[in-house]
Amino acid sequence: MTRDTTRWRLRDAQQTEQIGAALCAALRPGDFIGLSGPLGAGKTCITRGILAGLRPEPGHDVSSPTYTLMNHYKAQAPFVRVLHADLYRLEDMDDLESTGYWDAIEEADLALVEWIDKLPAAWPREGFDLRLDYDQGQTRSLELRWRGAGGQARLEVARARINALLGAP
Ligand SMILES: Nc1ncnc2c1ncn2[C@@H]1O[C@H](COP(=O)(O)OP(=O)(O)OP(=O)(O)O)[C@@H](O)[C@H]1O
Ligand SMILES: [Mg+2]
Repeated sequence: MTRDTTRWRLRDAQQTEQIGAALCAALRPGDFIGLSGPLGAGKTCITRGILAGLRPEPGHDVSSPTYTLMNHYKAQAPFVRVLHADLYRLEDMDDLESTGYWDAIEEADLALVEWIDKLPAAWPREGFDLRLDYDQGQTRSLELRWRGAGGQARLEVARARINALLGAP
């Protein structure tokens, strides 16, 4: 059965990371992942989990790129070059154009971009649309969509992985 509901509850930061790692099973080289959600919702945390799932080279601890704009990581083939960007501090697309963002996206085997909802024009192509938000209490919610045409099969793989850990939403 195909489910349209794609919202899960993440009980703590460890679970957010665990779900990130599980998502790796659905990724392909060249993928783009846009991360949205309010300040402190868990975007960097889930990115940390995704990178962990890609088996990074030692010493690659994921930190927030809020000030650096872009951080680069090396992981195992086929995701050798991983880009982690954060658009929080950019005002508009003119700001973005001067950063080398588009070249960095093209060179990356996987690109993860926080605050993509702030500058939707920074979506380079279709991709996974991950939305984190505050839930009741201290927990978070996760919504997963595919932005662009097709992608249903990709989503199903990702959903199945998440459901295997958290149960169907
Ligand atoms: N499911 C969760 N439940 C409770 N706390 C969580 C959960 N997931 C992550 N956190 C915590 O939320 C805090 C903020 O996480 P994180 O830095 O990943 O947010 P962010 O969305 O990247 O923030 P920013 O908007 O500043 O980039 C961290 O302390 C993290 O451990
Ligand atoms: Mg962050």
